Amino acid sequence: MGEITNVMEYQAIAKQKLPKMAYDYYASGAEDEWTLQENREAFSRILFRPRILIDVSKIDMTTTVLGFKISMPIMVAPTAMQKMAHPDGEYATARAAAAAGTIMTLSSWATSSVEEVASTGPGIRFFQLYVYKDRKVVEQLVGRAERAGFKAIALTVDTPRLGRREADIKNRFVLPPHLTLKNFEGLDLGKWTSYGHSLMEFCVRPEHEQAADSGLASYVAGQVDRTLSWKDVKWLQTITTMPILVKGVLTAEDTRLAVANGAAGIIVSNHGARQLDYVPATISALEEVVKAARGQIPVFLDGGVRRGTDVFKALALGAAGVFVGRPVVFSLAAAGEAGVSNVLRMLRDEFELTMALSGCTSLADITRNHVITESDRLRAMPSRL
Ligand code: FNR
Repeated sequence: MGEITNVMEYQAIAKQKLPKMAYDYYASGAEDEWTLQENREAFSRILFRPRILIDVSKIDMTTTVLGFKISMPIMVAPTAMQKMAHPDGEYATARAAAAAGTIMTLSSWATSSVEEVASTGPGIRFFQLYVYKDRKVVEQLVGRAERAGFKAIALTVDTPRLGRREADIKNRFVLPPHLTLKNFEGLDLGKWTSYGHSLMEFCVRPEHEQAADSGLASYVAGQVDRTLSWKDVKWLQTITTMPILVKGVLTAEDTRLAVANGAAGIIVSNHGARQLDYVPATISALEEVVKAARGQIPVFLDGGVRRGTDVFKALALGAAGVFVGRPVVFSLAAAGEAGVSNVLRMLRDEFELTMALSGCTSLADITRNHVITESDRLRAMPSRL
């Protein structure tokens, strides 16, 4: 293996190392994967307007997220089932994020529990929540996350049903039998018999499902609450004191509703292009959301962030920080904790360099004037009418 010089190189290594079913689960997007490609391409259409002759000998990338000081505006997105990538799974990710001085978001569908991740040592961690039909399960899960020291909930709102990921359908995606969704172990699941087996066994019993489908899609259809609405965002605030980030907002309308319903922040996300295909790239939707939030709550972004320049572009368009998904799982597959640490280091170094070459010494220096978007260019074109 030659020297790794950017985070994207981990994908090819992961593809070589992982069983096809696992790699496809991590890599794939929904249907035509138009949004998957667009999440990257939209970044490439944003150009810089760098400032020169500014003393950039000292650069401060630190920031504060929901009151927590972190070393850089680059955080770890929740990605499910990390032990499929590497035996250390979420433990490795938690350690790498803590060592980098940034936030890790743990998936509801992690293969390590909130308590196990907390036991890896200090670190600021958020818990990603899928809301189950059985609200007792939700209450217990949220309570456990809070007791384990998690600092915020990232409520995923773009998954009333699972998007069609055709590779997973073809592979009849299932979790390897030695792994379980650890957060559901030991919960009161007495009533949970609608699928004839426990929450944790869904993935190893594909033969129980009637539809020819990905095991995960069937699981979501059985367990996740499709009736989820804004009133549940209010309800969540009654069962926890943790602030709630609404993850999966793409429009100004929903931004205003998120503010009105007490969200502490918004994550502009299209779930890594795994849910509704043909939604815009998150970087294209960001400004609309930022404007609608009117500075009342912070707006974050995930989706397609692979370069320090991407981080800078997101911040210039108003994001308070970004989250990365696939680079974490691919580097985990390639090299465990060291791989995730390397991804966070490379993104950090590239971001620092971008700041220097744009004439910015702190995050506050990064402005809208440092980038030019496609719509800026269209607006600047003389009208032919
Ligand atoms: C995800 N994502 C996700 N989101 C969530 O809210 N809960 C989850 O359990 C998962 N699981 C998950 C697994 C895998 C393999 C991927 C790739 C993604 C979405 C994730 O949090 C984030 O929105 C995207 O991954 C961001 O896009 P990039 O960085 O992967 O392009």
